[in-house]
Amino acid sequence: MAKPKTLPPGSFILPLAYRVFFLVVEPIAALVGAVYAHFFQAAYLTMTHAASSPGDDNAAIPLGTSVVMSQLANLYLLFTLNEALVLRSTGDMRVWRTVLFVLLIADLGHLYSLKELGGRVYWDVLGWNAIDWGNVPFYDQFTGFQVKSPETWTTFHKQKFDAKPFADYDVEIKIECCGVCSSDVHTINGGWGSQHFNNGLSVGHEIVGTALRVGPKVTLIKQGQRVGVGAQSWSCLDCRQCKNDNETYCAHQRDTYGSEWPEYPGIISQGGYSSHVRTHEHWVFPIPEELPSHIAAPMLCAGITSYSPLVRNGAGPGKKVGIIGLGGLGHFGVLFGAALGAETWVISRSRSKEEDAKKMGAAGLLATSEKGWNEPHKMTFDLIVSTSNNFGEGFDLAAYLSLLDVHGKFVSVGMPEDAELKISPQSLGGNGCLIGASHLGSRREMLEMLKLAADKKLHSWVVKVPISEENLSKTLKDLHENSGVVKYRYCMVDYDKAFDA
Ligand SMILES: NC(=O)c1ccc[n+]([C@@H]2O[C@H](COP(=O)([O-])OP(=O)(O)OC[C@H]3O[C@@H](n4cnc5c(N)ncnc54)[C@H](OP(=O)(O)O)[C@@H]3O)[C@@H](O)[C@H]2O)c1
Ligand SMILES: [Zn+2]
Ligand SMILES: [Zn+2]
Repeated sequence: MAKPKTLPPGSFILPLAYRVFFLVVEPIAALVGAVYAHFFQAAYLTMTHAASSPGDDNAAIPLGTSVVMSQLANLYLLFTLNEALVLRSTGDMRVWRTVLFVLLIADLGHLYSLKELGGRVYWDVLGWNAIDWGNVPFYDQFTGFQVKSPETWTTFHKQKFDAKPFADYDVEIKIECCGVCSSDVHTINGGWGSQHFNNGLSVGHEIVGTALRVGPKVTLIKQGQRVGVGAQSWSCLDCRQCKNDNETYCAHQRDTYGSEWPEYPGIISQGGYSSHVRTHEHWVFPIPEELPSHIAAPMLCAGITSYSPLVRNGAGPGKKVGIIGLGGLGHFGVLFGAALGAETWVISRSRSKEEDAKKMGAAGLLATSEKGWNEPHKMTFDLIVSTSNNFGEGFDLAAYLSLLDVHGKFVSVGMPEDAELKISPQSLGGNGCLIGASHLGSRREMLEMLKLAADKKLHSWVVKVPISEENLSKTLKDLHENSGVVKYRYCMVDYDKAFDA
């Protein structure tokens, strides 16, 4: 094609230096940047973060804000301007094609480097562009086995999720194993109402692992220590309840999984069927050497939930205690009730677990399927802790209450789906008994319980299951469909294999 002698109307000549810069130097620099961001990502993120926020050592500010900003600036602003300027300066189609081709390669390079930050970053860029210049949330990612909706609660997907930013009081834990609680089922199958699923939710809140790193203000946990996390991961630590050893009743409490972090929009707490967890030190507990990890893990929810109502309601020598349901929580009720010195009875639906109950330290077992089962024990119990996860058939509240002595207490830790306790005032009048509930246990109680278990060599009865999509599906289905068959707690193990160490 012959070179046009005169420029088309509206065009103008750009100085040579300007053309060379935008046609050669700038695209090469952009490509080098993209390659560098791709292969030396950590260094690139740190460098650009430091450049955009000098002197900012607040670990809670998500690293990566600045990389997105710089990429975005290149993509949408400078390149567009350059294209417009260079193209308007000539009518020569060869220049047009060259410019478009080079810019396309540079753009693709930038997009490719962003891909390494996770697909979500594209969305965040758009969100940032629209609402808040300079504040693109970019989070570290962990891997978890997640459920996407209550309709598909038996299907687990191994996938990445955004972690809560690492904060001053946080402990980052590499998870080694995690017990399986009935609450996991109630949560993912929708039995407890709607939950934050977003792109997926990892449940599991009987976690043991190693403290990989601790925040600058952490004093309770040391890096490298073997630690555990239970069902709660945060509260205000400032209210009347928190200041009185009742942080599990704080109005602002957050669960280990399924709770929103209002400080970090879109971030939902994720549980122990994951590679790592970040938790405030108050809810991280050193595990005594005497307790193997898979033995300690189930104590962090099932154990403490049974232990707390026992000690708060005076279980000890001279007291007669009943535990309804010999499952995960129930078997700890027996182990701890007996260890505290109380005469502890199991109230089960059948006699099938009688031998086990006695091995755990029970004085005996009452089988509610037998006619008149409560008669010989009426008005003799000081305390009954119910761990039943079903208030339907087989759960006879009036008969349980008939066992209590005057002002004896019935405490439910079981939290069945869609259930109500129904009782006539008359059946409470015979012994003036009291009905209540209990939620987990405080940090002080957790440390006390772990020490008791270590000192008295109390071991959870555990069935180990290697963690995988299939095994989680099978295990949670089994817990749901065959309640009362598990002996007595499943614990997911072999995390190193599942998460490639
Ligand atoms: N309050 C809290 O802070 C807290 C914490 C953790 C868990 N929980 C809740 O505690 C409950 C128990 O959890 P888990 O993991 O221990 O479950 P689990 O291992 O399945 O044990 C539940 C036990 O309840 C008994 N049971 C089942 N159906 C019954 C019925 N119809 N009538 C009477 N008893 C029945 C069974 O014992 P038998 O076969 O011996 O009869 C079974 O072993 C769940 O609802 C869970 O969400 C509450
Ligand atoms: Zn639990
Ligand atoms: Zn509080």
